[in-house]
Amino acid sequence: MVAPMSKLIVLEGLDGAGTTTQARLLAQALTERGRTVHVTRQPSDGPIGKLLRAMLTGEHAIEGQAIDQRTFGLLFAADRMDHGQREVAPALAAGTLVISDRWYHSSLAYQGTGADRAWIATANLHAIRPDVTVFLRVRPEVAAARRAAAGRTEELFEAIEMQRKVAAGYDEVMHKLAFAGERIEVVNGELPLEEVTSEILAGVLRRIGGTN
Ligand SMILES: Nc1ncnc2c1ncn2[C@@H]1O[C@H](COP(=O)(O)OP(=O)(O)OP(=O)(O)O)[C@@H](O)[C@H]1O
Ligand SMILES: [Mg+2]
Repeated sequence: MVAPMSKLIVLEGLDGAGTTTQARLLAQALTERGRTVHVTRQPSDGPIGKLLRAMLTGEHAIEGQAIDQRTFGLLFAADRMDHGQREVAPALAAGTLVISDRWYHSSLAYQGTGADRAWIATANLHAIRPDVTVFLRVRPEVAAARRAAAGRTEELFEAIEMQRKVAAGYDEVMHKLAFAGERIEVVNGELPLEEVTSEILAGVLRRIGGTN
């Protein structure tokens, strides 16, 4: 018998790293193994997440100026609290595995390029801590090629120069958080899809318990 498990599993990586694809494939693999899984994402589908998605695609732009990164930092932190309370905590309380496509590591890596990272960390101090975070590591050029191949229109954070900074930010953030005791699995996201999925699954099962 598989005991009910409430664990928060987070997938992280650059735009185009494959977090959305792998969240779905991981959920499928865990469901096949008899687990109850809820897949979710940040920005969330709640009210603050919706506002963020609109702002990221250029709605509510300010004439001639970029929106301050600190504004995004606060909105992402607020969305994370609200998403945690509204959706993630209830699912965990019901004994479900929750897989989130992005969590606070994204804020630290992305907003950390334009706003003080320690301050961003403080704003996220009360966010739910993941039980395991999988970092899909891909080179910014590979992620950009995938976005182009998928015909994606570029969002605010997606210019290649910015992605290089974010990639460096991710490496730093993952290193620091692992040192601070977070369970972080780094997976080579440049491997073929199925190989990435099996690496993620192995890492997740190792960290949350269970081998099947
Ligand atoms: N391992 C892989 N090998 C080849 N192509 C991949 C791989 N993983 C994902 N892709 C392709 O790359 C594109 C981006 O994947 P996906 O949308 O999952 O990325 P993402 O990390 O969710 O991006 P974003 O964070 O910007 O939403 C998709 O077209 C997907 O099919
Ligand atoms: Mg995605």
